[in-house]
Amino acid sequence: MATFASSSSLKQPLIIVSFVFATLTGLHSPANACFTSVFSFGDSIADTGNLLAISRSTGQLPTSAFPPNGRTFFHRPTGRRCDGRLIIDFLAEALGFPFLPPYYGSENGRSEQFGKGVNFAVAGATALNSSFLAKKGIPNHSTNNSLGDQVNSFKDLLPSLCSSSSELLRTSLIAMGEIGGNDYNHAFRAGKNFKEIRELVPLVVDIITSSINELIELGAVTLLVPGNFPIGCSTSYLTQFQGSDKDEYDPFGCLTWLNQFSEHHNDLLQKELGKLRIRHPGVNIVYADYYNPTMRLYRSPSQFGFKETLKVCCGSGGPYNFNASISCGSPSLKRSCDDPSSYISWDGIHYTEATYKLVATAVFEELMNCIRSLNGEECIPTQ
Ligand SMILES: *[C@@H]1O[C@H](CO)[C@@H](O)[C@H](O)[C@H]1NC(C)=O
Ligand SMILES: *[C@@H]1O[C@H](CO)[C@@H](O)[C@H](O)[C@H]1NC(C)=O
Ligand SMILES: *[C@@H]1O[C@H](CO)[C@@H](O)[C@H](O)[C@H]1NC(C)=O
Ligand SMILES: *[C@@H]1O[C@H](CO)[C@@H](O)[C@H](O)[C@H]1NC(C)=O
Repeated sequence: MATFASSSSLKQPLIIVSFVFATLTGLHSPANACFTSVFSFGDSIADTGNLLAISRSTGQLPTSAFPPNGRTFFHRPTGRRCDGRLIIDFLAEALGFPFLPPYYGSENGRSEQFGKGVNFAVAGATALNSSFLAKKGIPNHSTNNSLGDQVNSFKDLLPSLCSSSSELLRTSLIAMGEIGGNDYNHAFRAGKNFKEIRELVPLVVDIITSSINELIELGAVTLLVPGNFPIGCSTSYLTQFQGSDKDEYDPFGCLTWLNQFSEHHNDLLQKELGKLRIRHPGVNIVYADYYNPTMRLYRSPSQFGFKETLKVCCGSGGPYNFNASISCGSPSLKRSCDDPSSYISWDGIHYTEATYKLVATAVFEELMNCIRSLNGEECIPTQ
């Protein structure tokens, strides 16, 4: 047990953390944090029901609205592209919060339900806006929502949440991403060449950092900013680039050049976050490493209880049990593997709850380490 505090002279949120932490086997004890709210931005990696809610008005339900999505934890589909909880769900649990409600489609004015936070992440959302991407020949899929739209929605909501938005933001945790993965996914899907896709990276990172800046200007002082996953191990990419030269694969069956691409995005993102930290010395900007904790699972699957690394749990045949034209939950794909917790990949693009839990554990530890490393006075709980 330990109590950590951050310096109020640095305008940090007051944080008390009291937890028995937690091996990589689970997030057992909720940390009692002084965060009053959690706000989340991103794409399907963090979407707890936004795309589903948006789609109700158009009648075009996404496949995440159907089983077997949700089978492990919620025992019903919730709009999450997973058998259970996502990283943001595990973080909310670990911080002692309820699962974040989706913002969109829920009569946005009902701010009382958003008191402890709200989620703006939309499956399919991009960092760059859809008109900009469309001009580059990169079409949207499932939504034209982008990070800028999400930040604007947040700004619209703020006045109804609190009389002082800077006070609210001071004690809030902002989860900024993962976002940007779809800009690349959609570009690869559109057959853009690698040079064109690489040129998107600084633009994507620039949108993320300018969104962070906007939130800091509104008063945010603690931001968690995830990087990208190792997409070279992602089944959708392994299927798209099936039959590549043997020497393009690493010993775990992942495509090296694609993993290097993810690392390139992550390196640039971290470099820019470093600049933001210098510009805003009173602000905690925590990089959330999704890449390395996930790579650990591919390297030592049995250590974490995984039997299948690259094959997907909810899939429909082929060498990786994945077919991009039949997604999990579609009418012809209602079944999944017997034991999702022995699979890293849920549907070829997204991960199983078991994977998310392990990544969330590593991320939560990073967040707590960062907060702990700040010098400070005794924390005064705000709740
Ligand atoms: C879309 O993004 C581009 C580049 O960041 C920007 O110039 C443009 O104003 C944006 N358009 C909309 C509608 O937000
Ligand atoms: C994609 O974006 C265009 C405008 O850029 C929009 O009209 C269309 O509805 C979007 N598609 C989806 C599936 O949201
Ligand atoms: C986004 O798509 C919706 C329909 O899905 C459309 O009503 C809206 O105008 C589009 N927005 C932009 C900026 O293209
Ligand atoms: C994927 O599914 C489509 C539609 O059912 C089918 O036509 C195609 O042959 C499948 N591809 C593979 C590689 O199995």
